[in-house]
Amino acid sequence: MQVVHSIADLRSRIKDYRRKHDQSVGFVPTMGYLHEGHVSLLRKARAQSGLVVLSIFVNPLQFGPGEDFERYPRNTEKDLQLAEAAGADLVFMPTVAEMYPTATRTTVSVTGLTSRLCGASRPGHFDGVATVVSKLFHIVQPDQAFFGLKDAQQIAVIEQMVHDLNLDIEIVPCPTLREADGLAMSSRNVYLSEQERKQALVLSQSLDKVKEFIQSHPSFSSEELVQLVSSHISSAPLATIDYVEALGYPTLEPFEIGHHPASIIVALAVKFGKTRLIDNLILQVR
Ligand code: PAJ
Repeated sequence: MQVVHSIADLRSRIKDYRRKHDQSVGFVPTMGYLHEGHVSLLRKARAQSGLVVLSIFVNPLQFGPGEDFERYPRNTEKDLQLAEAAGADLVFMPTVAEMYPTATRTTVSVTGLTSRLCGASRPGHFDGVATVVSKLFHIVQPDQAFFGLKDAQQIAVIEQMVHDLNLDIEIVPCPTLREADGLAMSSRNVYLSEQERKQALVLSQSLDKVKEFIQSHPSFSSEELVQLVSSHISSAPLATIDYVEALGYPTLEPFEIGHHPASIIVALAVKFGKTRLIDNLILQVR
C-alpha cells in the first residue's frame, strides 16, 4: 500500500497502473477516522476492482460555520492499518492547500434533491460534498466509486451529479454497518458520552418499528411513519430531533397515502448534546 499526498503523484501512479493493467480502478472517498463501515466499502472495492484507491480528506467546504470541522476526529496511524488490512492499494491524503490552493470559484450544486433532509438543516453542505467528490473523481478517474447507504441522500446527490455531468463512473451503494446493538457506525459516535451512547439506540429501534408497522399496515401514510419514529425518539430525554421524514427514494419527493413510490426512505437526524447523528431505512414497498 502506498500513501501519497500530492495530486500529481497520485495521477502518475494511477496512469502507470492503467498502462500496465487492463483492470478497473475502484475508489472509496472518506474523511478518515475509519471504522468497519468504511472498511466494508474497501472490501467491496477489493472484490470488484483491480486497483483500490482510498482518499482521506476532511473537506472544509462541506462543514457549515459552527459545525465540527476543527474537532472532526483524526487518527492517521489507525486509518492506515485498517486500510492496509482491507486491501487498499493507494491512499490519497491531501492537505487543504493541495485540494484548494486558491479560493474556489467553481461550485458543483445539485438542485432539488438537496432542499430537504440534511440539505435543509445544513445549508451548503451538499454543494461542498458535490464539489469535492467531483474534484476527487476528476483526479482519480475511477471506474467504480463506493458509497455507504448510511448517507442515502449523499448517494442520491452523487448519482444525480454523475448522470447530469455524464461522468463514466459506476456508483456502488453499500449497506449500512451497525454496532452489535444496532447503532449505525459513524466517526462521530466517539463524541457521545456514556449516557448519550445508550440513549442513541432509540434511532435504530425506531426504524425497526417502522419495518414492523409497514408489515401490518400496507396502506401506511408518511405521517404515520414520521409520528411512530418521532414518538419513540422522544422517549430518550437527551435526544433532540432535527428532522424525521418519510419520502420516495431516490427522488426524495413526498408521497400520498395509497400512492407509494416503489422505494421509500425514512430518514432521521437527531442531536445528542452537540453530536448530530443520522440514520435511515430504505424499503421496497411495491
Ligand atoms: P465519511 O463520513 O468519512 O464517509 C465515507 C463513506 O463511508 C461514505 O460513503 C459513507 O456513507 C460511508 N459510511 C459511513 N458510515 C457507514 C456505515 N456505518 N456503513 C456503511 N458505510 C458507511 O461521506 C463522507 O465521508 C464525505 O461526505 C465524502 C463523500 C468523503 C466527501 O467528503
